[in-house]
Amino acid sequence: MYTELVMDHVMNPRNIGVIEDADSIIKVGDPKCGDSLLLFLKFCNDIISDAKYMIKGCPAAIATASMTTEIVKGMTLRKALELTDKQVANALGGLPEEKIHCSSLAVGAVHEGIRNYTSSSDGNDQDLGEDAGVGPSQLPGTGENKRL
Ligand code: FES
Repeated sequence: MYTELVMDHVMNPRNIGVIEDADSIIKVGDPKCGDSLLLFLKFCNDIISDAKYMIKGCPAAIATASMTTEIVKGMTLRKALELTDKQVANALGGLPEEKIHCSSLAVGAVHEGIRNYTSSSDGNDQDLGEDAGVGPSQLPGTGENKRL
């Protein structure tokens, strides 16, 4: 059912934990299954310098949170906003069709965390970074994620 790489991320999830001085903290959940994710993002200029999370979720949600945080570390904010659920699933070697929606938990949290940060209280948008280079090209659907 799950690929070896998915199972590796489930058994040895990367980036579990808390960032004490995070620039953005976001909690998202899937109301249908009750799974939830608390994501911490640290930014350095226009780069995601660190990403950690705590999760209560199914194996697919754990694996995709692990892979998503691995992917976005070092990525510009602009590129991270373009990351899709499908790209994360592909990076894991694929997910069963019925588990694809689980990947939107982490990707949606990254997007929401960046948006919260860039629309900070002074109203000035942050620099999202260069748009050059190879990277994701479509925004994911995050409709199932609800801020808790
Ligand atoms: Fe809830 Fe996977 S079943 S995120």
